[in-house]
Amino acid sequence: MLKYEDVLNDKEIISLIESIKSDEYKLNHSKRHIFKVVENAENIAKQLNCDDKFINNVKIAALLHDVGMTVQRKNHAEYSYEIAKEYLDKKDINAEEKQEILNAIRKHSTAKDSNDLMQQIIVASDKIDIDKSRMMPKAYFSDINKNLVYINDVRLEITDSSVNYIFNIEDGHFKDICLFFEDWPKPVKEIKRFAKFLNKTPHFIFNDKEEVFDEEIYKI
Ligand SMILES: [Fe+2]
Ligand SMILES: [Fe+2]
Repeated sequence: MLKYEDVLNDKEIISLIESIKSDEYKLNHSKRHIFKVVENAENIAKQLNCDDKFINNVKIAALLHDVGMTVQRKNHAEYSYEIAKEYLDKKDINAEEKQEILNAIRKHSTAKDSNDLMQQIIVASDKIDIDKSRMMPKAYFSDINKNLVYINDVRLEITDSSVNYIFNIEDGHFKDICLFFEDWPKPVKEIKRFAKFLNKTPHFIFNDKEEVFDEEIYKI
């Protein structure tokens, strides 16, 4: 079995992750983001009581999901897939598990129409990494991305009946945060999809208060 720790400590992977560049006016895609997505994926998989093998593999998928950004931003998921495939083909890993990881990497931009748990977890883990620490220095000057400065922290809590997308925000700035989501509705939509996939109800909670997002804008 290919262990997450072995991939993490592999020089080839370290140098790939170190070389991911982020657009300075946008959001961080580099090391900070990668390890946040690994942490989120582990967290979500544990909340869903996934077994150790699955948790190991979902962490490998998270670690490699954005390596295609070293090629270019456009279609980077496809490049991530190609780089990860070339890497995993050299490793001792069961064919079925390899395919599951590669599929989650290749389709990490949306989980629309997906029936695959690993893919769903990677998409959700990626999309909940939106808080002020994700902002690149010049994102503070971007009309839309500057609104992330009001998000202190985000997490996903899964209960028997619901998926709770929980935000800790600066008081009085929910409307500003909505401007960000109106421009990029994907995080809200993907969490709705994830909840639907798990047969649970999504709740969006900002400082202990549940907010309802417009059905039209955030239609899935
Ligand atoms: Fe990505
Ligand atoms: Fe990402």
